[in-house]
Amino acid sequence: MRLSPLLSLAVVSLLSLSIFGCDSAPGRPKAGPEVPRPEQVQDFATLYKQNCAACHGENGRQGAAVSLANPEYLALAGEDTLLQVTAKGVPGTLMPAFAQSAGGMLTDRQIRSLVDGMIKQWGKPGILAGQNPPAYAATGAGDPQQGQQVFATYCARCHGADGRGMTAKDAGAAKAEKSFGSIVDPSYLALVSDQSLRTTTIVGVPGEGMPDWRNDVASHAMTDKEVTDVVAWLASQRTPYPGQPYPTAPAAQQHPH
Ligand code: HEC
Ligand code: HEC
Repeated sequence: MRLSPLLSLAVVSLLSLSIFGCDSAPGRPKAGPEVPRPEQVQDFATLYKQNCAACHGENGRQGAAVSLANPEYLALAGEDTLLQVTAKGVPGTLMPAFAQSAGGMLTDRQIRSLVDGMIKQWGKPGILAGQNPPAYAATGAGDPQQGQQVFATYCARCHGADGRGMTAKDAGAAKAEKSFGSIVDPSYLALVSDQSLRTTTIVGVPGEGMPDWRNDVASHAMTDKEVTDVVAWLASQRTPYPGQPYPTAPAAQQHPH
């Protein structure tokens, strides 16, 4: 089984933290006489590159963390969520808080500029009109048992019957170059929030071949309830402290700052 992108990211983040300390933390550009003071940078491309690209990909795609250059994602999450998450991060995951008020390095104006830039450059107004996607956030608790059925219908052909992944050969894709990593690995589930599982289930993984909620196997798009249930099934496989040397301090809570 290969390491999922997120796990590789965790390894890299921990390594760079231990080697460079907090100077390599996102949001802290190198000092230099010609360089504008960090809090003066307002340009979206620069801010994105310095703070987000390492995890979310050079152009907002194909990074280890969720693609932000995805118009469906941006429309689904909405401006308020984007502002909120960028400012405060996602506690217990690798997504750092960037607002100075939350211990980060960016001013409120810089966060605004990042979110405006993402929506302007990568968004597409009205892209979800008439598409009736599941809600961004779950509105109730899911049913893990139902979720297992949902998984069998929509997900197993790529992620394996039990979610443990499979090789391209197992998947019957003789020429496929990729194999699908486990999405029920405790170390993976420990690093990722339920919201992130939900986001991925709804918007898919563009450019990597994972379809969005509209899928291509069933006669209908995934319903809100199906998404909630399948996430509940995945989440039910989380173990409290997966393989942690220090059971009282989950590694997922060691913040990059
Ligand atoms: C160290 C890696 C890292 C960096 C740097 C980072 N992110 Fe993230 N980001 C993540 C991870 C991992 C998640 C998923 C967190 C979770 O499990 O919910 C995430 C989630 C998000 C989400 C929410 C996705 C959702 O499900 O709705 C947004 C929005 C986001 N990041 C924006 C940004 C922006 C903007 C920046 C730069 C200012 C940034 N991130 C920098 C790792 C990172
Ligand atoms: C056509 C193939 C395909 C189908 C169907 C599919 N996926 Fe995926 N999925 C992928 C690929 C490819 C990736 C990204 C590469 C990887 O991590 O294996 C991925 C990644 C993921 C991830 C993130 C893994 C990570 O490392 O961050 C989750 C969670 C996920 N899928 C859940 C699901 C769920 C839930 C379903 C069913 C509703 C589903 N997938 C259906 C191909 C698929």
